[in-house]
Amino acid sequence: MHIGNLKLANPVISAPMSGISDKAFRLLAEEAGCGLVCTEMVSVNALAYDSERTKFMFDLAGEKGPTSVQIFGSDPVKMAAAAQIVRNAGAAVVDINMGCPAPKVVKNMEGCRLMTDLPLARKIMEAVVKSVDIPVTVKMRKGWDEHSVNAVELARLAEKSGVAAVTVHGRTRDQFYSGKADWNIIAEVKNAVKIPVIGNGDIKEAKDALAMMRQTGCDAVMIGRGALGNPWLFRQTVHLLETGEVLPRPDLHDRFKMIVRHLKMVASFKGENRAVREMRKHIAWYLKGLRDAARVRQAVNQARTVDGIIEILEEYKKFLRQFTPCS
Ligand SMILES: Cc1cc2nc3c(=O)[nH]c(=O)nc-3n(C[C@H](O)[C@H](O)[C@H](O)COP(=O)(O)O)c2cc1C
Repeated sequence: MHIGNLKLANPVISAPMSGISDKAFRLLAEEAGCGLVCTEMVSVNALAYDSERTKFMFDLAGEKGPTSVQIFGSDPVKMAAAAQIVRNAGAAVVDINMGCPAPKVVKNMEGCRLMTDLPLARKIMEAVVKSVDIPVTVKMRKGWDEHSVNAVELARLAEKSGVAAVTVHGRTRDQFYSGKADWNIIAEVKNAVKIPVIGNGDIKEAKDALAMMRQTGCDAVMIGRGALGNPWLFRQTVHLLETGEVLPRPDLHDRFKMIVRHLKMVASFKGENRAVREMRKHIAWYLKGLRDAARVRQAVNQARTVDGIIEILEEYKKFLRQFTPCS
């Protein structure tokens, strides 16, 4: 699978997720074998202020890549300038966000709101494509709402504007993250354009990726929420697509080892205080479905240090071992 002149080792892509796909998460996705890893969305307005926090969102030091840096905004000139900045920071791909449904984003004519103004969307795509020598991609939804489904039209426009691939999340902006993703729209876009189409929405298990590819003909899959607390999903998907085999789920030992590694990585990149706060949600996802997880989540939420969290996890592991002595 190619995106422009970039060859991906496989068609499994980790999704851009604000507040989630930071450097630690990207390294885990990369280690799990993803063919392409995406950053969180980066505001082109925030970029103008040159803040350390914003710059760190696309600091790719130590990452093997290839990495796609996603930018969002509504001003073609600023978008083009931002694309150059992220390209110079080592991005292999620049992705334009046309799918974010958040009110604070769409009210500024950014994210999914661009699907309601195709002339502006076109200006942005053309400006960004012209400004960089790396492939430019666009991530979109099905449309703004059920009355204005226009992913096919936007994808055609993207192709004409020189965009190298499009990602389609099969929900409208109105749906936010509710309901089921409509994979038919991915198939419709695939039939309408020659550039690669990346399918996205509701891949929760490796077999869902295979089903999406078969049902829609998409060239690659993008996985978001399914990998929360479950970075193994990337490896399982790559493996299933390559061999047809289903890898086993990680055992208790591997789960806890991963949590501690993830925690320590975030602490090393962002400092202990941020790590303790930001890892709460990740730990909740990692522990989902385990016996007595609510009690442990509460304890983790009270913890103030990395060592404190590790101690809670060690105790919990011992507790769980009583019930699953072999793992
Ligand atoms: C917490 C969270 C943050 C997200 N942030 C972004 C983002 O920054 N840029 C983007 O294009 N999509 C973002 N998304 C959407 C995902 O990339 C993806 O399109 C969506 O979750 C559907 O895929 P999934 O069913 O595999 O999760 C976000 C989703 C979640 C759950």
